[in-house]
Amino acid sequence: MNIAFVSSEAFPFAKVGGLGDITGALPKALDKLGHKVKVFIPKYSLINFNNHKLEYVAEVGEMPIRVNGKSYVTRLFKSYLPGSFVDIYFVDCPHFFHRKDHTGNDVIYTNHQDEDERYVLFSKAVIEAIQRMKWLPDIINCNDWQTGLLPLLLRDNYSWDRFLDPVATAFSIHNIGYQGRFPKSLMLKAEIRAELFYPNSPIEIMGTVCFMKAGLMYSDVINTVSPTYAAEIMTSDYGEGLEGVLSYRVNDFYGILNGIDTEVWNPETDKMIPVNYNINSLEGKYENKKHLLNSMNLPHYKNTPVIGMISRMVGQKGFDIFAESVYDLMRLPVQWVILGSGEDRYENLFRSLQQMFPDRIATWFGKNEQLAHLIEAGSDMFLMPSLYEPCGLNQMYSLIYGTVPIVRKTGGLADTVKDWDEYSYRGDFSGNGFSFYDYSAFALFKSVERAVNAFYNHDVWIQIVKNGMISDFSWENSAQTYLKMYESAINKRRG
Ligand code: ADP
Ligand code: GLC
Repeated sequence: MNIAFVSSEAFPFAKVGGLGDITGALPKALDKLGHKVKVFIPKYSLINFNNHKLEYVAEVGEMPIRVNGKSYVTRLFKSYLPGSFVDIYFVDCPHFFHRKDHTGNDVIYTNHQDEDERYVLFSKAVIEAIQRMKWLPDIINCNDWQTGLLPLLLRDNYSWDRFLDPVATAFSIHNIGYQGRFPKSLMLKAEIRAELFYPNSPIEIMGTVCFMKAGLMYSDVINTVSPTYAAEIMTSDYGEGLEGVLSYRVNDFYGILNGIDTEVWNPETDKMIPVNYNINSLEGKYENKKHLLNSMNLPHYKNTPVIGMISRMVGQKGFDIFAESVYDLMRLPVQWVILGSGEDRYENLFRSLQQMFPDRIATWFGKNEQLAHLIEAGSDMFLMPSLYEPCGLNQMYSLIYGTVPIVRKTGGLADTVKDWDEYSYRGDFSGNGFSFYDYSAFALFKSVERAVNAFYNHDVWIQIVKNGMISDFSWENSAQTYLKMYESAINKRRG
């Protein structure tokens, strides 16, 4: 099968969160199963031509792409996903993809006036590149709102090209909280037929044009990244206004759990951590703990558990209930290592906690890939109290690094973490973490407390750690399910 995988992020070239990890890994798994995959992402200014050995694709040449009445010269560059033969193509248009934030750092996403235009250009350029490459994909897999207009443009604006008729489309939701809703003026900017905008039309929601809704309505099949999240977003509590659309498409809607890239995340081979270890050499993990505490300027106490967090500091990730329970949490005999950045109110919370408890909590603000690996390897526990979590990757990294996750039972967290107490009470000792259901400060505190108590029972703790480490989250199974979904899309399209 020929598969075009279209995304706004790809590790290690450009990553904000989990979408980058998925785009860097799933295509490799599909390739290993014998399929030809080509990945497409924008050529952001933070992607360095030399470091990543980008080559100009002369065969495609200069593509004039029209957005908001103007034509922009767009080029294609090519490289490989590291450790594979999977082609990755970069859509280069400096006007749209060379962007900085207010501090002068190169960024991927912006809140600029033309955020919609940036991804209209990207979607059109991917379609036109495919036309020029004379490589016909059987399926185009779009991801998240940035690529939501592509299936519509393909079927409408480019329907004159009969060559594209048999090309099926899939749309994957990684986060329904970001839908790409823009004013009606987007219709003209993107050259979408005016007749398609009316109340509750396939692209309209609450008077706006919604990229994600278009993706969900115009694709042959749709999916999200865990079975529990798939069920959750069909309800009004989690669907963010798109629950009706998902119910309408329920027969074509799949929940497929993400995998992880075990070439990047594996404590036995991880090059970013000081000491490699496995289930039979857990001493190595304790060496990493010392390195972690040392690098964060925290004292090392024997027998004090360390809890790690690595997260975008936004409401989705449960920082509200963390803030509410923080003084109770700080009464527990625990050290905290936090990595992330985001909203000021949360960053400020961690700044003041650091001042109040300098030997108990340390935070690194910003992105730090290496520290992320060290936190996974060196922490005893990992906290993810998410309000919602489509899949979540860090709890899976934690499990295989022997770092016991404490999570809210939602989305992919519910699908991967089995509560130790809940299961052992039933006589099943396969629990691999701690979880709570109510989105409340009290429930969060209680499960951290339960985990800390378990930590002091050495035998129980080692059992929980090992239950996590034997998990298999490799991509192969999920990649097979993606292929089944692609096949059903292709059958639908070709009748
Ligand atoms: P989301 O995509 O919602 O942010 P995921 O759990 O799916 O959540 O993926 C987050 C990814 O981003 C993980 O690979 C995590 O390690 C990484 N990450 C998040 N914040 C940082 C940071 N500050 N530095 C390095 N990596 C980070
Ligand atoms: C989103 C979700 C996260 C998921 C990731 C990759 O960013 O917030 O839960 O793991 O996409 O699918």
